[in-house]
Amino acid sequence: MYRDEFSLDPSLIYLNHAAVAPWPVRTAEAVKDFANENSDLGAAHYPKWLEVEQALREKMAWLINTPSVEDISIQKSTSEALSAIAFGLDWAPGQNVVCFRQEFPSNRVVWQSLERYGVETRLVDLESDPEDPEAALFRSCDEKTRLIAVSSVQYGTGIRMDLARIGQFCRDRGILFCVDAIQSLGAFEFDLKAIGAHFVVADGHKWMLGPEGVALLYTDPELRPGMKLHQYGWHMLENPSYFEQIESEPATSGKRFECGSPNLLGSHALNSSLSLIREVGLATISKRILENSALMIERIERDNRLELISPRGESRRSGIVTFRVKGLESEPLYRELMKRRVICAPRGGGIRFSPHFYTEAEQLNRGFDILNRIIDDQRRP
Ligand SMILES: Cc1ncc(COP(=O)(O)O)c(C=O)c1O
Repeated sequence: MYRDEFSLDPSLIYLNHAAVAPWPVRTAEAVKDFANENSDLGAAHYPKWLEVEQALREKMAWLINTPSVEDISIQKSTSEALSAIAFGLDWAPGQNVVCFRQEFPSNRVVWQSLERYGVETRLVDLESDPEDPEAALFRSCDEKTRLIAVSSVQYGTGIRMDLARIGQFCRDRGILFCVDAIQSLGAFEFDLKAIGAHFVVADGHKWMLGPEGVALLYTDPELRPGMKLHQYGWHMLENPSYFEQIESEPATSGKRFECGSPNLLGSHALNSSLSLIREVGLATISKRILENSALMIERIERDNRLELISPRGESRRSGIVTFRVKGLESEPLYRELMKRRVICAPRGGGIRFSPHFYTEAEQLNRGFDILNRIIDDQRRP
């Protein structure tokens, strides 16, 4: 029934929400309406557009369970948000940042770029302790560790991290905690209060079902005033509409990281997508996602030609299931799957399937049937 919320071409089996998600129908409608309004009326109803943007901020705050929209900034990407954090903090030579070697590049290069300030980025191999990757992170920390950066869910293997445990470790040692939540926000509940992260970042085009170019940045209200700013403009000021005011201060809220005119087209789109997520509810969404992952894991484990790369343990599962086919290269297999309209990605050393809550079991089974036929074809002498 949730499938009615989408108008996906029925010949596609869309298993790529960990890359870029298709939009719900209501999001496409919101964008069309916004386009029509722009062409017919221009910005005559601009204040109404700002109400939509405010509604988006409220939904973002709801997504991470923070009480205050003041702590939310709208950014254009996860990378931009991470850069605001990395270059907003004051660093001292000799300090270090700890993250996984296998992180998506956005959540690695930004920390490595702090080398110019004498900051070391310690890359921890996820494989060094597959059963307890948090412990591997902790072992790499010392008294010079300023920040731990992790993805809530790893983009390659889909391993879900124990964020509350990392948060506790950080709090006990005065370490800052930055979570790239792009692979879980919109799919799983995120309880900022329990996790205690100082920073949360996530673009909206994956599990939130929005467009590219609209991202969430949460900053801890106690740290925010001390963060350096690197972009300036009218929109980030405390009173952005008093254009003649010469002595003006950056906003104390998260808007201080939003220098110029807002992306209201993107805000209309993501606000609509998140209205669907909110209506269905994260409990239902995550349950459906985990059912889909269980089905995929079951199909992989029942076929001795396939090998699961993603973790098996239930607390580690996410919306991402990655596997390889024994004896076959993943890249050509991926290309063949795409040719047969199974939309997926080559990631994490294999093929990554990432359906969402509305993906039906029949679709998943059809995807695996197609995979089986490809394997049979390739193995035929
Ligand atoms: C963990 C992670 N972070 C960040 C990104 C993308 O970052 P951005 O929003 O800057 O494009 C991805 C995209 O695949 C990702 O998987």
